[in-house]
Amino acid sequence: MDYNVACDVINDISGGFAPEIVIVLGSGLAGFAEKVEPVSVIHYDLIPGFSVSTAPYHNGRLILGTLEGKRVACMDGRLHLYEGLELEQVVFPLRVLRKLGAERIILTNASGGINTSFSVGDIMLINDHINFQGRNPLIGKNDDEMGPRFPDMTYAYDPEFRILASKCAENLGIDIKNGVYLSCTGPSYETPAEIRAFRILGADAVGMSTVPEVIAAVHCGYKVLAFSLITNMAAGITGNRLTMEEVAETGKRRSLVLGSLVSEVIKNC
Ligand code: HPA
Repeated sequence: MDYNVACDVINDISGGFAPEIVIVLGSGLAGFAEKVEPVSVIHYDLIPGFSVSTAPYHNGRLILGTLEGKRVACMDGRLHLYEGLELEQVVFPLRVLRKLGAERIILTNASGGINTSFSVGDIMLINDHINFQGRNPLIGKNDDEMGPRFPDMTYAYDPEFRILASKCAENLGIDIKNGVYLSCTGPSYETPAEIRAFRILGADAVGMSTVPEVIAAVHCGYKVLAFSLITNMAAGITGNRLTMEEVAETGKRRSLVLGSLVSEVIKNC
């Protein structure tokens, strides 16, 4: 896949717009895209190398514009391994946006709460992750221009960026949790036995995204911040069945709060 071709197409359409911050919208942040003052809205299928989102509630548009005085690139619709994509395809857009100049990335997702002190609707600032997807987007020949062969993941979730996010939450009176996000491939939800095992491993929340993007983002030198919206308690915790509708409903109910937090972070970073 050729990053330069994608960059050229985006440059042509946007008149050379250079984003500073990338925002990846998960199911927890529906509607956030409308906050951006758009310069260009580009459907993924117009950009060579971008795959089209097939996941429910994911639109598949790249919105370039301004928000809180910053130049942002908002991925309205993310790509997942469970859609049958290669991880290289999942991380292609964020690599292209890095080449266009972006230095920070803010990712959001919906997840199931494993930590029983969490409640549905909580926002968790991700401080570390466990990769349970059995894959890594960096497998294959390393592109040395993009980043190192063996990137360090000790501070994957940038500590200063996290401090800033915590201060922003405090300013807005939003009580946020901190924790470890574990990523499975999906698309089936986990079993109760898996959730018990993941709790022993140290996970606080579980989902089907974010980890491949964070690995690739660290590799190519982004400062990374990630929020997880706890849309449901993970399998077996309440005895209720898990449904996509509950995930979507919590996402809708809490998207304004998460959106205001992301905006506050953008304003202050
Ligand atoms: N498991 C995996 N992914 C999810 C969940 C969950 O419980 N909730 C939202 N996304």
